[in-house]
Amino acid sequence: MSAVIDVQGVEKMYRRKVHALRGVDLQVGAGEIFGLLGPNGAGKSTLVKVLMTVISATKCKGTMLGKKIGDKSALTQVGYLPEHHNFPKYLTSRQVLRHFGAMSGVDRKTRNTRADELLEVVDMTDSASHKLGTYSKGMRQRIGIAQALMNDPKLVVLDEPTDGVDPIGRKDIREILLRLKGEGRTVFLNSHLLSELEMVCDRVAIMVHGLMRQQGTIDELTQGRSGFRIKTGSAIDEQTIDASKAAVPGVECAGRPGENTIVFKTNDAQAVQPAIDALRARSVVIESLGAHRPSLEDLFIKAVNEHPDGARPGAQKAKKGKRGARS
Ligand SMILES: Nc1ncnc2c1ncn2[C@@H]1O[C@H](COP(=O)(O)OP(=O)(O)OP(=O)(O)O)[C@@H](O)[C@H]1O
Ligand SMILES: [Mg+2]
Repeated sequence: MSAVIDVQGVEKMYRRKVHALRGVDLQVGAGEIFGLLGPNGAGKSTLVKVLMTVISATKCKGTMLGKKIGDKSALTQVGYLPEHHNFPKYLTSRQVLRHFGAMSGVDRKTRNTRADELLEVVDMTDSASHKLGTYSKGMRQRIGIAQALMNDPKLVVLDEPTDGVDPIGRKDIREILLRLKGEGRTVFLNSHLLSELEMVCDRVAIMVHGLMRQQGTIDELTQGRSGFRIKTGSAIDEQTIDASKAAVPGVECAGRPGENTIVFKTNDAQAVQPAIDALRARSVVIESLGAHRPSLEDLFIKAVNEHPDGARPGAQKAKKGKRGARS
């Protein structure tokens, strides 16, 4: 994999108090859509800000687009949508795009045509002459994405691009992301919307408490966790679960009394049949039997549960006396 972002051991200590990043390793390959997820306060935006040179890391080794992290010259090839952007409200969206184009060194003719093209891409042409102050959150977010593309970037970094965007808008943004990938660009995004990430990302990473807990394709992350799920017509009790478990010795299975699913961790349909017989013998109605693969949400919840501190925003408070760089 040729890496567009390749960093190791990134640490960030805010004002000697909050250890926001505790040694993060991250590799993002050229041309992929990479999703970074994690609970509030996990350190996602901090990592993005380090990459974008908005803040400096306490420790950091690695490169972005072949340049050392912190080298601002790499940014000419990067488009960035910050988490809480606040573009001037007195400008129209067309003016905002032209302004960011000018700041990125795009010549006047190109930035004028590109602004109009991008307004079309984010479906904002009709409001192009309205001031940003009159826009809804979702409309501002669309302009934020267009702004990130004004310099024709190789790498697009989007911190919560679908924040405040309605379902139709989110679908539009997914299409934009896939289009960017189709154009050969690399996309790196943070999002809380796990199902969205699942739909578009080639690879994902789960960050908890300032550390990467998992990184890979969704198939890699779910490997060994797939199996079969039996859905029953009504809630099952403990004895029924035990009876189905006893029928398939050697196959790991999970079910909870009061629910109506049992999951068997095997990819062999034949191995599950005795469990079905055991359930039928107890007159349990089988509604469906299907392949089960954990969702990104399942993986996320598992990663957070394994590190319960990480679910608390602000959990990275450094111990007294620990030294670190100021932000
Ligand atoms: N400027 C700052 N000064 C001090 N602490 C900060 C600063 N910015 C962030 N933090 C702390 O660093 C930790 C990581 O914050 P960060 O914004 O990176 O999290 P996040 O994963 O992006 O969260 P969210 O999903 O809510 O956007 C948090 O504990 C936060 O309080
Ligand atoms: Mg954030």
